[in-house]
Amino acid sequence: MFAEFAKLAKDKGNDKAKAEVVQQICMELNIHTQAEEEIFYPAVRAALKDDELMNEADVEHAGAKNLIAQLEAMTPAHDHYVAMVIVLGEMIDHHVKEEEEKMFPKAKKAKVDIAALGAAMSQRKHELQSERGEAEKPVKARKAQSR
Ligand SMILES: [Fe+2]
Repeated sequence: MFAEFAKLAKDKGNDKAKAEVVQQICMELNIHTQAEEEIFYPAVRAALKDDELMNEADVEHAGAKNLIAQLEAMTPAHDHYVAMVIVLGEMIDHHVKEEEEKMFPKAKKAKVDIAALGAAMSQRKHELQSERGEAEKPVKARKAQSR
C-alpha cells in the first residue's frame, strides 16, 4: 500500500485515490497495532524479560499512531501530506525490521507459542475489522443523506 501511495504521490491530481490508499493504510495499521498490543506484546514481554526491547517497540507504536492520527485528520491538500505518509512508511519499515530481526528470534528462543498467538491475533483482527466496518456504516449513510 505504501508503494501504491508512492506511485500516486508523483501524480499531482489524484487526491481522491491518495486519500483512499491512506485511509486503508491507517485502518490496517490501527487494527494490527491494537491486536499486537493486546495479544502479542504482553505475551512476548512476559516471556523475554527484555523490557528495553519491548519498550522500544511501544515507543515506535506510539510514534506511528501519532502520525496516523494526524493523517486521519488531514486531506491530501495539506502541504505535508505526502511527506507524512512517506515518513510513516519508513517508520513502519524500521519497526517491522526490528520485530523480524530481534523480537521474533528472541521470542522463538524463549519458546513463545508463536502459532497460537498468531491465531489469536488474526481472530482479534477479524473482530476489530467487523467492529470498524459496522462503525463506518452509519457515517457513510449520514454523508449520503446530507448530499
Ligand atoms: Fe509492532
